[in-house]
Amino acid sequence: MQNILVTGGAGFIGSNLALTLQEQFPHAWMVVVDDFRSGSFLNLRGFRGDVVAADVSRLDWREQFKGRQFDAIFHLASITDTTIHDQCLQVHDNVEGFRRLLEFAAPTKCPVVYASSAATYGMAGGRMQEDQPPAPANVYAFSKVQLDNLARRHSQDDPAWRIVGLRYFNVYGPRETHKKAAASMIYQLYLQMQAGRRPRVFFHGEQKRDFVYVKDVVAMTIQARLSPRSQVYNCGSGQPVSFNEVIQALNHGLGTRLEPDYFENPYQSFYQNHTEADMTRAHSDLGFQPQFSPASGIADYLKTLTSNT
Ligand SMILES: NC(=O)c1ccc[n+]([C@@H]2O[C@H](COP(=O)([O-])OP(=O)(O)OC[C@H]3O[C@@H](n4cnc5c(N)ncnc54)[C@H](O)[C@@H]3O)[C@@H](O)[C@H]2O)c1
Repeated sequence: MQNILVTGGAGFIGSNLALTLQEQFPHAWMVVVDDFRSGSFLNLRGFRGDVVAADVSRLDWREQFKGRQFDAIFHLASITDTTIHDQCLQVHDNVEGFRRLLEFAAPTKCPVVYASSAATYGMAGGRMQEDQPPAPANVYAFSKVQLDNLARRHSQDDPAWRIVGLRYFNVYGPRETHKKAAASMIYQLYLQMQAGRRPRVFFHGEQKRDFVYVKDVVAMTIQARLSPRSQVYNCGSGQPVSFNEVIQALNHGLGTRLEPDYFENPYQSFYQNHTEADMTRAHSDLGFQPQFSPASGIADYLKTLTSNT
């Protein structure tokens, strides 16, 4: 790859992706487009490519990249704070950004990999398969369903063009600290425990999540550009773990013995007790297999966290 574009590259997953692509394709011309609304320049320290500070939903793509052809586009820019309830803002910025990007990429049929989300499955819980009907429970998830719809329509119109959606599950890992309350539960529990406090989780800590390490997410995202067809794939670990197990792994890595501090769940009636990515399609189409188990991912992450403190 000679020319690579990453939107949302100042964010958590986008910066890990941009820096890994830079390492794997050291001679490529790399561009990050981000308006820094939730990302941070700190995530891009060491990035040697070009950074365009712009809102993807308002950018004039053709004017910005006059005649430039990309070999791959990774689209991760998105409002990611699910507590932003301004419906027009969420749908406008997330959907129009993708629409403009697709219109820009269409003439060259440059492969596009975009971030969808496990949130599109809604509250159903259990093992989630890509063909399940979408059931967005908030406007953020609704905007991601629109991305999947747009991608499907464009790829039906033009079967030779590859547009690949990845439904990320609960991603954790380095460069997520800027997300504060929206950072992963693993990071939130780590913060409490490294401060010597008992980790607070809902009774009885047995709710399970498909936590996936960002290094696996980046590897799958890069691989997805080679998908044999336009498709939507789950991107999880496929190994859901309970909050109690996460606390156990953190205790192990931190050398602590902090007991969970359970409290009543105020959202009981609309709380997911189990999320799990069915990774069959990713495995069969892309040959993708996550390299990190929850325990080894947490151990790897702790190395970074403890060396920074
Ligand atoms: N982290 C997760 O667990 C998770 C789960 C499912 C889906 N996703 C998706 O993965 C992608 C990356 O998420 P993240 O966790 O790195 O979040 P993040 O908030 O750290 O990154 C998003 C980036 O997009 C930028 N951005 C937002 N709107 C923009 C716009 N209109 N124009 C330009 N830049 C814009 C932000 O400034 C930020 O740098 C998002 O599309 C998100 O919806 C993430």
